[in-house]
Amino acid sequence: MIRKIIRDPGPLENFFIPRNIIHREKQIRDIFTSVILPLRSGIGSTAFIYGQSGTGKTATVKQIMENEKDLHIFYENAISITSFRKVMSDLSGSMGVSIEGKISYESVFRSMQRVKNRPVLLIIDESLNLIRNDFEGLYSLMRSGELFGASMGLIIISVDNPALHLSSQDMRKLGIFNEIKFDRYTKDQIFDIAGSRAVLSLYDGSWTNDILLQIAGLCERSGSARMAIEILQKSAFSAQYRGSEMIEPEDVRAASAMINPFVTESKLMELDFREILLLQSVCQNLHTSGECTMESLSKTLSMNSEIHGIRTPDTAFIYRGIRHLETLDIVESRLESFGPGKGVRKKVYVNDVPVEVLMEKIQEISGRL
Ligand SMILES: Nc1ncnc2c1ncn2[C@@H]1O[C@H](COP(=O)(O)OP(=O)(O)O)[C@@H](O)[C@H]1O
Ligand SMILES: [Mg+2]
Repeated sequence: MIRKIIRDPGPLENFFIPRNIIHREKQIRDIFTSVILPLRSGIGSTAFIYGQSGTGKTATVKQIMENEKDLHIFYENAISITSFRKVMSDLSGSMGVSIEGKISYESVFRSMQRVKNRPVLLIIDESLNLIRNDFEGLYSLMRSGELFGASMGLIIISVDNPALHLSSQDMRKLGIFNEIKFDRYTKDQIFDIAGSRAVLSLYDGSWTNDILLQIAGLCERSGSARMAIEILQKSAFSAQYRGSEMIEPEDVRAASAMINPFVTESKLMELDFREILLLQSVCQNLHTSGECTMESLSKTLSMNSEIHGIRTPDTAFIYRGIRHLETLDIVESRLESFGPGKGVRKKVYVNDVPVEVLMEKIQEISGRL
């Protein structure tokens, strides 16, 4: 009999919702105290959830959705949506309301009031671009109680702290809101998460703690559970393909080499066009001269902006953009000294992938923008 590695492939898939979300007890409690419990007493409030890709944001809210059946929960992934108004019209559709003519916030909220028999919780995932581009919409949703007499719970999920993407004036306008941060997982936490997935999907004896440790080590820097589960999945396929009874370290290495380009692509999708240009400029500098200083970056970027007919970005934008690329773990910047007392300068490096591969990916992505 051929002994296989994979007993149930489901828990290794992306769409799998784990019943147990581990190491997120605090975040789950914060979501309850800031949004769910107030909503049950008729009070609308907003929580911003943010954290890097793979830190369990989506899994956590999906698990809450499974459990809270007394609420009308509407979940929308906003990656390709350009306004909050569109989200609201999808929300009213989910409540069986169709609105004639032009959709206004007022009409949506008014019809919501008419049909609603359960408190409404709206969850908007992947919303960084919406936050940046539709402040008026964000404001209307967060203030729906005051503006339209219709309170609802609102959870807005993105990869970065929204405060970094709003002006201080906009921040003042929004007033107080709840922020719930999803930190990168530690190596130990990734070990636990990958282990619980292995138990659900693999035959006993086909994997060892050393294999899990190897995977956790590879994912330590990204802190991403998604990356760990993907490596586990591909390692299992690799071992099964070899006809082996066990996952070996070599399977893990092969798997990790396979997933890197995908990780990069999903990260690039989180950038807006100006940031893509910034990253492209970093790559061009590294490609032509092997290094990228802030001065050379600024020159290349203004050239690239001109080519695309965009206003030349200022230094503040460059620093903010680099910081965002750093939080996504695409680039790394270091201060390098000219020698004692001679000052320092900042240089930017690309992580993980060869610059050429990254440039190709950028070409593909910017063709789609
Ligand atoms: N704490 C956790 N316990 C179990 N599985 C988790 C946990 N955090 C993340 N995962 C799994 O890791 C993968 C990525 O998580 P996800 O929620 O999609 O991350 P994010 O939305 O932050 O990018 C999913 O397969 C998810 O089920
Ligand atoms: Mg997600």
